[in-house]
Amino acid sequence: MAERETWTTRLGFILAAVGSAVGLGNIWRFPFATSANGGAAFVIVTLLAVLIIGIPALLAEFVIGRRSNTDAIGAFRKLGRPGWRFVGAIGVFASFWTLSYYSVVGGWVMRYVLGTATGNALATPETYFGSISVGVPSVASHAVFMAVTIVIVAFGIERGIELATKFMVPAIVVLLVGLAVFAATLPGAGDGYAFLLNPDFGYIIANAGSVLPAAFGQALFSLSVGFSVMITYASYLGEDDSLPIDGLSIAVTNFAIAFIAGLVVIPLLVVQGLQPGAGGISATFVAIPTALAELGGLLGQVVGVVFFFVVLIAALSSAISLLEAVVAYLVDSFGFSRVPTAVGLGVVIFVVGIPSAWNTAWLAWFDGIGVALLLPVTVLFVVLFVGWVLGRDAIDEFTKGSGAGWLASVWLWGLRTVVLLLVVIIVALNLQDLFLTPSGSYIIPGPLR
Ligand code: PHE
Repeated sequence: MAERETWTTRLGFILAAVGSAVGLGNIWRFPFATSANGGAAFVIVTLLAVLIIGIPALLAEFVIGRRSNTDAIGAFRKLGRPGWRFVGAIGVFASFWTLSYYSVVGGWVMRYVLGTATGNALATPETYFGSISVGVPSVASHAVFMAVTIVIVAFGIERGIELATKFMVPAIVVLLVGLAVFAATLPGAGDGYAFLLNPDFGYIIANAGSVLPAAFGQALFSLSVGFSVMITYASYLGEDDSLPIDGLSIAVTNFAIAFIAGLVVIPLLVVQGLQPGAGGISATFVAIPTALAELGGLLGQVVGVVFFFVVLIAALSSAISLLEAVVAYLVDSFGFSRVPTAVGLGVVIFVVGIPSAWNTAWLAWFDGIGVALLLPVTVLFVVLFVGWVLGRDAIDEFTKGSGAGWLASVWLWGLRTVVLLLVVIIVALNLQDLFLTPSGSYIIPGPLR
């Protein structure tokens, strides 16, 4: 069998991981999660969740991946604990599950690049969203988005994912900064920024039982943790990188890009008197074009095309990581060859996504199960495994290339105690909400209730 690929450079790995992290989570999911959970204060709670749970859990996935150098399920056997393979299995399933609806939203974004170019999306935003987000048009754009994802993954790590993200991530940064500078020139942009600086902690405290799990889910989803993706990406690493430095760079860049996206989106909306995030999963697709239309004619169209193009490459660079996590399992564990595996799996995932493409209520249901159930359960077992089962091996792997032995101990003890405790609480709250609260119940999807 051919030798397993590795990233050609350390920067290549970091860009690919940032590409995975930065995506619809930052630009599409974050605004509506924020508005559903009390506004600006939610941003702060999410940031805390990144620091206290997200980064330690990200490093735990890196340790599993780099130490095993194989797919996220085989990794547990390679580490001498085959009984724990179910953890990888839930994670790989979570990637499979998530990509099915993520690609639907990615397809809408593709439509919006065209729709803003022609001006149709700006003329009647609500009607436009309604016409492209359901039924046949939505299934069609879902198919195109999946096809592009498949092509990149089929090219493999070096010539596919690494090469693509080397262009995509810098492009996202440059274009977003340009848009943020433009947004700063809008009259009254200051009011928009003030929105971010006006947190209502009272709401968060009164609704901690639902706000905390939501912030946790958003933080980990945004970092691509809890899906076997970061295990898989780290499995293509050599021994010489410092995992803590890489992990921190990725988390900081991800947050910085989300923040800049906020600086673009919030002034646009607030200046036009729109509530950021209002409107649930359609928020980005209705409110932004409404605001762009207010800018008027050509200017609105140009800004719109650039904005949705940024969202599109951000979505694609995340989608490829989700597909790669599943492809790597079939390639590494069964010796299948990459190209037919990527194509075959891509088609299956496309089919699973058809209900979400057909009806947005299914999409919201898939998102709910993924982020409130599969993600937290995977994180719980990853934390347990690395903290209490791998133990010394984890310290050894963490220290390799970083030499920071003391930091490794702080991290491991953090995982064993605080992180584990918090994750247990989050899982319990989520399970209670999913199965015991009739209104929040996800057992039956909204449209069929
Ligand atoms: N982090 C990505 C985003 O914010 C989504 C994602 C989740 C990608 C999990 C891979 C794994 O859009």
